[in-house]
Amino acid sequence: MKIQNITDLIGNTPLLKVNDKIEYYAKLEGNNLFGSVKDRAARYLIESAYKDGIIKNDTVIIESSSGNFGIALAGMCKIKGNPFICVVDPNITEINRKIIELLGAQIVIATKSDENGNYVLDRIQIVKDYISKHKNVYWTNQYQNRYVWKAYFSLGEELCNEMEEINYVFVAVSTCGTLAGTSRKIKEHFPNCRIIAVDIAGSQIFEKSNRQKHISGIGTGFVPQNLQHAKYDDFIIIDESDAISECRNLLLKGIMVGASSGAVAYAIQNYGGYSEDLQTKKIVRLFPDRGERYLDTIYNKEWCNKVGIDIGLL
Ligand SMILES: Cc1ncc(COP(=O)(O)O)c(C=O)c1O
Repeated sequence: MKIQNITDLIGNTPLLKVNDKIEYYAKLEGNNLFGSVKDRAARYLIESAYKDGIIKNDTVIIESSSGNFGIALAGMCKIKGNPFICVVDPNITEINRKIIELLGAQIVIATKSDENGNYVLDRIQIVKDYISKHKNVYWTNQYQNRYVWKAYFSLGEELCNEMEEINYVFVAVSTCGTLAGTSRKIKEHFPNCRIIAVDIAGSQIFEKSNRQKHISGIGTGFVPQNLQHAKYDDFIIIDESDAISECRNLLLKGIMVGASSGAVAYAIQNYGGYSEDLQTKKIVRLFPDRGERYLDTIYNKEWCNKVGIDIGLL
């Protein structure tokens, strides 16, 4: 496969058939250039903002993200030559921090958490303070930017081209951008397909919770605006220990993925809302990223013990 442009390494990811108790197809989004589904959002957003004259080469890009979106934006800004400030949690993993820094971003660390241990509100305040004091800054704002959820039309279109029929799609949620963009495209092609959002215990998207969330990538501390654009039929909330145990099960098949992939795999096997004979149904899900970024967390026994997640023996 000859590639002319480095950003063409974003999108057109493989679709893998996974044999489990309930068989499904998984879109391997970890195969994107910077390693996750968020590469689609970063590419679409930066390219669209250039095209629409919102940013230029010297515009400072700023975003609040400790994870895949920060990495994806750092990569896109490196390619385009824009300075990038990434506002992160103090508990950002060493691996993510190193990748973001190596890609040339400046890191600013939030310090104030809410009662559930979420730093997202402080991170957003830091971004707003920076914008109020500087000119020629663009906040990509993944929780509200219409470019973000439209970026995932490409994912929905790829799935619709790859599958003759889709009956169920399971999507992990955080900013709800993937859910919004993917669900809208899929419903255009397959209106009867049921879209199931998968969240993690401790997240506040679908219900108020006083549990603390430790896993990154999935869930968030409020209801993101992107959810308004999503066409979903149901949601399911998975315990962190079940998500991590499922990652270990996937390892037995040679698949090493992040925690949200484990959550979605668990959701597929345990969803109570299937209405028909499953043998004939086509189920699709996304693996948002690969497992290497989680070596210090969900694949680390001490980390699991420290945060009180009981996943049995490694
Ligand atoms: C690793 C990872 N990337 C991306 C996503 C999708 O997130 P969003 O809802 O922000 O599009 C998730 C969701 O759980 C995730 O876990």
